[in-house]
Amino acid sequence: MSAPPLCHGRVVIVTGAGRGLGRAHALAYAAEGARLVVNDLGVGLDGTPAEDSPAARVAEEIRAAGGEAVAHGGDIATTEGAASLVRTALETYGRLDTLVNNAGFLRDRMLVNLDEDDWDAVMRVHLKGHFLPLRHAAAHWRAEARAGRAPDARVVNTSSGAGLLGSVGQGNYSAAKAGIVGLTLVAAAEMERYGVQVNAIAPAARTRMTERAFADAMAAPGSGFDAMDPGNVSPLVVWLGSAASAGVTGRVFETEGGRITVMEGWRPGPSVDKGARWTPAEAGETARALLSRAEAPGAVYGAL
Ligand SMILES: NC(=O)c1ccc[n+]([C@@H]2O[C@H](COP(=O)([O-])OP(=O)(O)OC[C@H]3O[C@@H](n4cnc5c(N)ncnc54)[C@H](O)[C@@H]3O)[C@@H](O)[C@H]2O)c1
Repeated sequence: MSAPPLCHGRVVIVTGAGRGLGRAHALAYAAEGARLVVNDLGVGLDGTPAEDSPAARVAEEIRAAGGEAVAHGGDIATTEGAASLVRTALETYGRLDTLVNNAGFLRDRMLVNLDEDDWDAVMRVHLKGHFLPLRHAAAHWRAEARAGRAPDARVVNTSSGAGLLGSVGQGNYSAAKAGIVGLTLVAAAEMERYGVQVNAIAPAARTRMTERAFADAMAAPGSGFDAMDPGNVSPLVVWLGSAASAGVTGRVFETEGGRITVMEGWRPGPSVDKGARWTPAEAGETARALLSRAEAPGAVYGAL
């Protein structure tokens, strides 16, 4: 007898699921028996309003394959959009088990050319766009826990290598994606007592966001494996969003092609305590001595 699907009966929200990675996640969850809320506002590459809202198409694709899905076309970076997103899950299916925060867009510029608008728009869609759905889902799960219906809930947030190591020309995006890691750590610590696990991924895949960067990335010769297919990222996202990932929370994974990497974050390196205040010259001398014994940080993406 074959094993039951990993997410049988679970209700899963995926934001920005109209295309790219979010669409791949939604299809992968549906293939594992989940019931979906497919969110997408339908914006252009830089966040400007676009004609089409692709959420309905993906929901239809899931239903055509025999799955359950409903579309939500709201903006996840607004209170109304985030609240109505969670409400859609509860009104349609009567429950919510997993939230995948994925929606976003880019406004890449070198810092000296980065307008306040480009900063605000990218911080808003990624950082606030993670916080608001998380906050509304968390309030629901806390109420469930208090009512004695212990949730077994999951949140998967989307960071980026840019947020972990930095990326030239992406100061706004890197700051937002690093902020998402901080938010993930706090949410994991605060929500554990309510039965909610919160993790983050740093994916890489060929989507409209990275089309140019990854245009030349070819499948491994002879293997037929397209390493940059967004669907390669989804299996880990499905597992993290399932009951099977019990005990895993507050972690960050890089996932790309056939590779999964646990990212190990900031931790104390070489250290010295004088037990008194340093002079600036002494502090500098000590800092240099410590640096000579410390591990060099990973290279910033795109740095010369
Ligand atoms: N593709 C990669 O290699 C890569 C690498 C690192 C991180 N990421 C992250 O993965 C996520 C998905 O990226 P993608 O490459 O699939 O991009 P994409 O442009 O293909 O898809 C993003 C989707 O989010 C939607 N969206 C944007 N703003 C929204 C809003 N306010 N409300 C609801 N939906 C909104 C867009 O309409 C779009 O359909 C993003 O958070 C991105 O930063 C992607």
